[in-house]
Amino acid sequence: MSATLNQTTVNDDLEPMPPLPPAASARLAAFLTKIERLTPTFIGYPCSQDYDHTNLAPFMRYSLNNVGDPFADSIYRENTFEFERDVVRFFQMHLRAEEGSTWGYVTAGGTEGNLYGLYLGRELFPDGVVYYSEHTHYSVAKIVRVLGARSIMIRGQDNGEMDYDDLYETLKLRRDVPPIIMANIGTTMHGAVDSLPRISQMLKDLAITRHYIHADAALSGMILPYVEDPQPFGFDAGIDSIAVSGHKFIGAPMPCGVALARRRNVDRVARSVEYVGCMDTTIAGSRNAISPLVMWSAIERWGEDGLRRRVQRSIETADYAIQQFAQHGIEAWRHRNSVTVVFPRPGGEVIDRWQIAPSRDIAHIITMPHVTRAMVDCAVADVAQSLGKA
Ligand SMILES: Cc1ncc(COP(=O)(O)O)c(C=O)c1O
Repeated sequence: MSATLNQTTVNDDLEPMPPLPPAASARLAAFLTKIERLTPTFIGYPCSQDYDHTNLAPFMRYSLNNVGDPFADSIYRENTFEFERDVVRFFQMHLRAEEGSTWGYVTAGGTEGNLYGLYLGRELFPDGVVYYSEHTHYSVAKIVRVLGARSIMIRGQDNGEMDYDDLYETLKLRRDVPPIIMANIGTTMHGAVDSLPRISQMLKDLAITRHYIHADAALSGMILPYVEDPQPFGFDAGIDSIAVSGHKFIGAPMPCGVALARRRNVDRVARSVEYVGCMDTTIAGSRNAISPLVMWSAIERWGEDGLRRRVQRSIETADYAIQQFAQHGIEAWRHRNSVTVVFPRPGGEVIDRWQIAPSRDIAHIITMPHVTRAMVDCAVADVAQSLGKA
C-alpha cells in the first residue's frame, strides 16, 4: 500500500525561490539588449537563429535529466527519453541507417559526437591509428589526446578535402595497423566533403579489412539529406559512426547534437549501472534533457518540407552572396551542396562586426536560414571596403 502525497503537501514546507534583486534584473535586461543587437550581424558561424522555443519555458521548472541510455529504462524518470528516441530515429532515417543496425543519443554538440565515434573506434581497435586531415575541426586533435590514441595528420587540399594520395601512401606504409579514419562531411572552414567512396576503395585496394570510419557531419549532416544530388554521407556509404550538431542547421538556444553508431560497436562499451538503474552507453552521465525537446520540437514544427525549404533557401542565399562578391571583383566560392562561402580574409574590424571566423588568408560567411539578402549585401560591402574593392 503506498502513502498518498499531493503537490500541496510537498510544497508546504518549502521556501519559495526569491525574485531577482532589481540590480540583477537590470543586468539581465541589459545583457538581453546586447545579445539582441548582435543577432542582425550573425553571419560567420553556422548557427541558425530562425526559431523561437519560448513555448518550452514551462519545462524550466523541472530537474529534467537524460542520464543513461535513452533506449533503456532508468530509475530517474524525469527525463525526455521518449523525445530523444524520436530525434535519434529522425537522424537514423536521414543518415541512411539500416533498420535496427544503429544506436544513438543526443549529445552536447559535434565535439562530443566526434569523441564518441572515435572512442568506439579506439575500443574496437585499441592498437588503431586515427587518421584525420589538416582541415579537420580543431577539437579532433584534442580528442585524440584525450583518448590516448595514436594519430597521423593527413595533408589537405586547398579546397578543404583531404589529400587522398597522402592518405593512400600513409595507409600503405602501415597496413598491419587498423586505421580509424575521421572523414569530414563538411569541413569547418570550406564546407568540404571528403569522398567516402574513395576512402572505401583505398581500403579495399590495400586489402585492409579491419578499419573504422567516423564521419564528422556537424553542419552538412542536416543539409545533404535535403539536396537533390548529395555526396555520399551516411551509413550506406560505409561509415561506422557519425556526429551531427543540433544547434547548427536545425538551430537551438543551447549547443546540442546527435551521435549515431553501429549497434554492435556500442554493445561492446555498454555497462549496466546500478546507481541510476540504466545502461551507461553515453559519454556523459547527466545529460541535457531540454535539448532533445528543442530538436524534436523544431523537427515537428518545420516538417520535412520546411526543412528542405530551409536548405534550398540557404543554398540560394550562398549563391547570391557569391554573385555579390563577384560584383565587387572579389573571388568567392562554395563547395557543391555547401552554404559556406569562402573569400579572401578581410580586416579585423569586419571580422569583429560580422563575427567571421578567419583561417590564415581566407574567411567565410555561412548562409544559414536566418541570413537574409540584406545582411549579405551589407556584409559584402564591408568586406569589399576592407579589401579596397568598394
Ligand atoms: C566540422 C565541425 N566539426 C565539429 C565541430 C564542433 O562542433 P560543436 O561546436 O557542436 O562541438 C564544428 C564546429 O564548428 C565543426 O565545424
